[in-house]
Amino acid sequence: MTENISNCCTDKTALDKIAAIAKTWKGRKDMLIEVLLQAQKLADNAITEDVAEIIAKEMGIPLSTVCNAISFYAMFSTEKRGKYIIRMCKSAPCHIKGAEAVMQAFEKALDISCGGTTSDGLFTLETCECIGVCDRAPAVMINDEVYGPLTPEEVIKIVADYRQRREEK
Ligand code: FES
Repeated sequence: MTENISNCCTDKTALDKIAAIAKTWKGRKDMLIEVLLQAQKLADNAITEDVAEIIAKEMGIPLSTVCNAISFYAMFSTEKRGKYIIRMCKSAPCHIKGAEAVMQAFEKALDISCGGTTSDGLFTLETCECIGVCDRAPAVMINDEVYGPLTPEEVIKIVADYRQRREEK
């Protein structure tokens, strides 16, 4: 049932936290998406097989239900991703206003291609459909924060700021 989910392991501390969250909502299938969102944040932005199994067990719902939700919603990933997920809007208004040049600037600044994750595990670069801020085109989301309108020059500063955040921790 979990054949489409990565079987790499999530660390024990994260798994324990996920188990505790899932247990809170035992029998509440309507809370599955919320639990998955919280779990994904705790587990390197990925719902791996062990995470899916512990959610199913602690919520008391079938593993197939958990797996179906993960594969249905684009916001869930089964592969480990970076701490910061950069989602470049590729819909028409952003495209017209220069999204491609901004994407190239991210690729260059991070030394990865779209879809990739930096070797330090800090950034994953993806595209997405309209994020609802077309007046700020071209726009990106980095985790829950929106940036735009962006220029290629600003990309370099944003990436440096995020790298700085890590060094301050
Ligand atoms: S088209 Fe990019 S935010 Fe709407």
